[in-house]
Amino acid sequence: MRIGIYGGTFNPIHRGHITAALAAREQLGLDRLILIPASVPPHKRLPQGSASAEQRLEMAVLATAELGPWAEVSDLELRRTGMSYTSDTLRELRQRYPDDELWLLMGSDMFLCLHDWHEPEVILSLASIGAFSRTEESEAEAFARQKAFLESEFGARVALVDNRRVVELSSTEVREALPAGGGADLLPEAVYGYIRREGLYGAQCDLKHLGPEELRPIALSYLKPKRMPHVLGTEAEAIRLAQQYGADVTEARIAALLHDCTKKLDLPAQLALCEHYGIELDELERRALKLLHSKTGAAVARDVFGVSDEIYSAIWWHTTGKPDMSLLEKIIYLADYIEPTRDFPGVEELRKTVRADLDAGLLMGLNMTIREMEEMGNPIHKNTREARDYLLKNGGTTMKTPKELAILAAKALNDKKAKDIQVLEITDLTTLADYFVIATGSSNTQINALVDNVEKELHEQAGEEPLHREGYRGGTWVLLDYGCIAVHVFNAENRQFYGLEHLWRDGKQVDLTGILEEKE
Ligand SMILES: [Fe+2]
Ligand SMILES: [Fe+2]
Repeated sequence: MRIGIYGGTFNPIHRGHITAALAAREQLGLDRLILIPASVPPHKRLPQGSASAEQRLEMAVLATAELGPWAEVSDLELRRTGMSYTSDTLRELRQRYPDDELWLLMGSDMFLCLHDWHEPEVILSLASIGAFSRTEESEAEAFARQKAFLESEFGARVALVDNRRVVELSSTEVREALPAGGGADLLPEAVYGYIRREGLYGAQCDLKHLGPEELRPIALSYLKPKRMPHVLGTEAEAIRLAQQYGADVTEARIAALLHDCTKKLDLPAQLALCEHYGIELDELERRALKLLHSKTGAAVARDVFGVSDEIYSAIWWHTTGKPDMSLLEKIIYLADYIEPTRDFPGVEELRKTVRADLDAGLLMGLNMTIREMEEMGNPIHKNTREARDYLLKNGGTTMKTPKELAILAAKALNDKKAKDIQVLEITDLTTLADYFVIATGSSNTQINALVDNVEKELHEQAGEEPLHREGYRGGTWVLLDYGCIAVHVFNAENRQFYGLEHLWRDGKQVDLTGILEEKE
C-alpha cells in the first residue's frame, strides 16, 4: 500500500491543501492519506489569534469530508510532548506500517531546505518524498538541483507532484479574508462553518436565526464527515416534502440541517447535555444513545441557533415520532428516513408511499421501525407505538379501500409462503363481502401461521381487526371475516372440497402479477 503523509500546521486547513492532496493521490497512486497536524513546529511560530491544537485537529477531520474515506487524520504529533520532529513521526509510522510505502508530501519551501531538517538521513531512509512543484521557471531549476542533491547525498527517492492547476493559496491569505466575512470559497465547507461558529481568526458570526444557506456550513461542522451526506440528503428531501405538502420550506431546511447536530457525541457527553438543559429521561432513554441525540439536538438548536418552537419540536421527535405529529414533525421524521443516501430493504416502497400520501408513509415508517426493533430484540419506545396507534385510530387518509385490504392480506399470505393465492372481486355478486382472498397452506401449523400474519399485517398497516374468525382451532381451514373482505385459508384437500373459485366463478380475479414477489 502507498501511504501519503501530509503534515502541516493546517492553521487552518484550506482548499489548497485539498487540491494538493488530490494531485498527489492521482500522480503518486496513493492508496491512503494521513493528515498530521503539527504541534508548534520547530521552525515556525504560530501567529496571534490562531486556532488551538485541538481546533486545528478538528478542522483537519472536517476537511476529510472533501477528500473521502481514503483520508484520515492522526493526532500523533499533537500527542507528543516536547520538540516534535518529522523523523520521529516517520519512525512511529514505519513501525505501524512496516510493509507499506510511505510518501512524505511537502510544499516547495520545505522541499528546498529538507537537508537542513533534523535527521534528514532518517527521514529520507524511511520515506519517499512527494514535493509539490509550482509554476515559476526559477523554481523548476532549484527543484531539479535539490532532487539530484538529495538522491546522490542520501539515496533519496523523490517525485515531483505537478500542482500547477492549483491556485496558489496560503493560510495567511485565508486568515486575512475571514474577518471581513470572506473565505467561504477558500475553505472546505465544514471548516468554514467551524471557523465561523468558533469565531476563529477574527471571523464574526451571530449564530441566532441564520437562514439555511448561512447555517449549512455551520451545521456540517457539528458532524462526522461520514454523516454529512446524510444531513444534506435530509435537507434535500425535507425541501421536496415541504413543497409537496405545503410546509414552510425554510423551517424544514433548518430543522433538517440541525436534526443530528449532537449525533457524534458519546453517552457521557449526551447525558451531560441533558443535565445542562434539564432534559428529563426515562429508563430506556438513559441507555439509548440513539434516542438522546434528538433531545439534546433540539436543545442545542434552540439555545445556540434560536430556532422556533416548531423546529425544536421536529428535531425533538425525529427518532421516535409521537401521537398527533405536526406537519413539520412528520416531514423531518420521514425526510430523515428516506433521504437519497438511505439504502435498506423496503426503502423504495417507503419513498413511494411517502410521496403518494404523507400519513400512509408515516404509518409505514413507524411500522418498519417497530418491526426492525422487534426483530433485533430491541425495546421499542412507547412514543413510537403510540404514534402508530394514533395514526391507525385517526388515520383519515390512511383508510384502505377493500381492494387495498385484500391485496394487503394476499401479501401477508405470500410472506409466509402460502400456495396458490387468489383474490376474487365479488362486489356485484353478494353482500357477504367485496373480496375473497383464498390461499392454501401445507399443514395445520402453516395455516395458523398464515392467518396470524394476515391479522398482524392488517392490524399494523390498516388498523383492521377481524369481525369474526371460524375454524381457527381445527386448522384444516380458517376464515377471517373483515366485513368487506373475507380471507379463506385451506389445506389442499379442503380447498378442492369447497371449490370456492368454482362457486364464485362469476367473480373477477384480481391480477396479482408484480404484486406478490416469489418467496424462497
Ligand atoms: Fe437522528
Ligand atoms: Fe438523521
